[in-house]
Amino acid sequence: MIALGSDHGGYGLKQEVIRYLEKNQIAYKDFGCYSEESCDYPVFAKKVASAIVNGECEKGILICGTGIGISIAANKVKGIRAALCHDTFSAQATREHNDANILAMGARVVGSGLALKIVDTFLHTAFSNEERHIKRIEQIEP
Ligand code: RB5
Repeated sequence: MIALGSDHGGYGLKQEVIRYLEKNQIAYKDFGCYSEESCDYPVFAKKVASAIVNGECEKGILICGTGIGISIAANKVKGIRAALCHDTFSAQATREHNDANILAMGARVVGSGLALKIVDTFLHTAFSNEERHIKRIEQIEP
């Protein structure tokens, strides 16, 4: 199950991501927001992060205008490794090396064509499970 969240700035791109997930029969839960009305990105970052930490969802996708605020907020939650990616190389590398459990993107930074390729790469790349990466991920936790 993929947890989705955005603020008003990311709402439109999140709808595109929902269309991609439905077309590919990938289960998701949308934690909001549900319109383009102005709202606060930390609220949705925390909802998605909690769903991952409590085991309800395995990965998440968070979108705001830049992807910055929403990724900063998500990374405050213990156990969350949110990666801000605007290219497919980073999306692949952050899964293989960081075992990132949230992909963050900025709807005002990338077009929907590239964003959906990034989502596809993120969701279909496995963690490398290599000892050196496991050790470094463990070192991240406070
Ligand atoms: C909202 O205007 C904007 O600040 C937000 O979407 C995001 O870019 C913050 O980092």
